[in-house]
Amino acid sequence: MVRPERRDLPVDQSVDLAGVRLKNPIVVASGTFGFGREYGQFYDLSELGGICAKGLTLHRREGNPPPRIAETPMGILNSVGLQNPGVDAFIEHELPELRKHDLVVIANISGNTPEEYGIMCEKLSEAGVDMIEVNISCPNVKAGGLAYGTKPELAAEVTRVAKEHATVPVMVKLSPNVTDVTEIARAVADAGADALSLINTLRGMRIDVNTRRPILKMNTGGLSGPAVLPVAVRMVWEVANAVDLPILGMGGVAKGEDAAQLMLAGASAVAVGTACFADPYAPIRVRDGLAQIACAQGLDKVSDLTGGVRPW
Ligand SMILES: Cc1cc2nc3c(=O)[nH]c(=O)nc-3n(C[C@H](O)[C@H](O)[C@H](O)COP(=O)(O)O)c2cc1C
Repeated sequence: MVRPERRDLPVDQSVDLAGVRLKNPIVVASGTFGFGREYGQFYDLSELGGICAKGLTLHRREGNPPPRIAETPMGILNSVGLQNPGVDAFIEHELPELRKHDLVVIANISGNTPEEYGIMCEKLSEAGVDMIEVNISCPNVKAGGLAYGTKPELAAEVTRVAKEHATVPVMVKLSPNVTDVTEIARAVADAGADALSLINTLRGMRIDVNTRRPILKMNTGGLSGPAVLPVAVRMVWEVANAVDLPILGMGGVAKGEDAAQLMLAGASAVAVGTACFADPYAPIRVRDGLAQIACAQGLDKVSDLTGGVRPW
C-alpha cells in the first residue's frame, strides 16, 4: 500500500460536531482502528479529524469465539463481540498515547445496563476524552437481551443516564436494524443527545453449503463495508430531516465521493471503518478526495456540503 501524496488544497476542511472542532471531517470508525497503535505505524494520527476508539465495556471482555470475520460480496460480516481491555485500562494505557497526537478522541461505550453506561461516562469525562459515543446496539440484560437501539424507550433511557453522568458531548450511535430509524433518532434527541452517529452494522449471515454450518461461530454477524453505503446514505438523510442534531455519518465509506454523499445527505463529519482493513491509508484518501470534490465545486469550506442534497 502506497502512502497518498500530500496535496494542500485551498479549502477549509474544519468542521464542528456538537461544539467539538475537528480539523477535517474524517474520523475512524469504532472497532476498525483499535486504539490507533497499529495504524500509527503508517502515518501520524494527527492527520485524522478524530478517532472513535474501539468499543469499551465496564470490564474487560474476550469477545466471541472464532471464526468471527467472514468476507461477503462488497463487505464483511463480523461477530467480534466487543473484545476490549475495559474502560479503566483504556484510560490508563491507551488514552495517554492517543493524547500525544492532535486529533479528537471519541470513546465508544457499550453497557449491559443503563447504570454501566453512567459509570463509564463519568470515568471517561473525568479522564478527558473529547466526546463519548454511546453504542446502543448491545443487549440490555434487564430487558432479556433486547438491544437498546431497537426500542425508543430503552434508547432514550440510556441517553438520559449517559447525559446525567457525562460532562463532555454525548453522541448516540444508531442501529440500522430497525423498521424506522427516525423513531429512535427522535427518542434519543428528546432525551438530550448532543449528536448522533450512524450506521452501525446490519445483521447478516453466511452459510457454508457443504458443511451446512454458518461461517461465523455466532451464526450471525454485522455487515459492513461498501455494500452498506446506500443504506447509510438513506438513513442519514432520513435522520437529518427528522431531528436537529449534528450527525457523524458512516457505513461503507471507501473514497471521497462516498463521504461527500453522506455529507450531502446531512452528515457534519464522516467515519471510515472497514475500508481501513484493506488499506490503512483509506481515511487519508477519503479526506483528500472529499476536499478535492469541495474544491472542484467551488466551495470555500468542506462543511458547505452538509445537507446540500437536492431531492426530487
Ligand atoms: C470488526 C468490527 C468491529 C466493530 N466494533 C464496533 C464497536 O466496538 N463499537 C461500535 O459502535 N461499532 C463497531 N463497529 C461498527 C463500525 O464502527 C461501523 O459503524 C460499521 O462498520 C459501518 O462502517 P464501515 O462500513 O465503514 O465499516 C465495528 C465494525 C467492525 C467491522
